[in-house]
Amino acid sequence: MKLKIANAILNDPVFRRRIEKLEELEKDRIFCGHGLDHLLNVARLTMLICQEREITADPDIVYSAALLHDIGRVEEYTMGLPHENAGADAAGKILSGIGCGAEETEEIIRLILCHRKKRSDRGTIESAFYDADKKSRMCSFCKAQAECNWPDEKRNLIIEV
Ligand SMILES: [Fe+2]
Repeated sequence: MKLKIANAILNDPVFRRRIEKLEELEKDRIFCGHGLDHLLNVARLTMLICQEREITADPDIVYSAALLHDIGRVEEYTMGLPHENAGADAAGKILSGIGCGAEETEEIIRLILCHRKKRSDRGTIESAFYDADKKSRMCSFCKAQAECNWPDEKRNLIIEV
């Protein structure tokens, strides 16, 4: 299945420049990076979690939100802004530039804005997206474990399915 919005984002020059800028800003970062591998892992895990919890999910919305959810890290690293808010602003401009519809834009922005808030409602796409973002990391081989501020209960030290 070819995803319309997600592929338009993937080929958008503004998005691509942001990913390159992030790569540059994170080149000496010892903690988890936020490159394309992480973004796609979040999308794939969200789809799997939605399937497991029987949550209806539009793959184009999920992949689009996943691609855009960390782009605000550019402003977080350079200006100290929370990356979900900066990312939502930047995503809005990218989505407008590619001609994304109002309803889809709203859904994508909502997922970006809530991706750092832990939720108790496991049956929602917001919760699946949050969990996918956290589960997308494998901490057990990480060389920065001693310096990482993730509490033990949040760390992915074993493989869970
Ligand atoms: Fe993330």
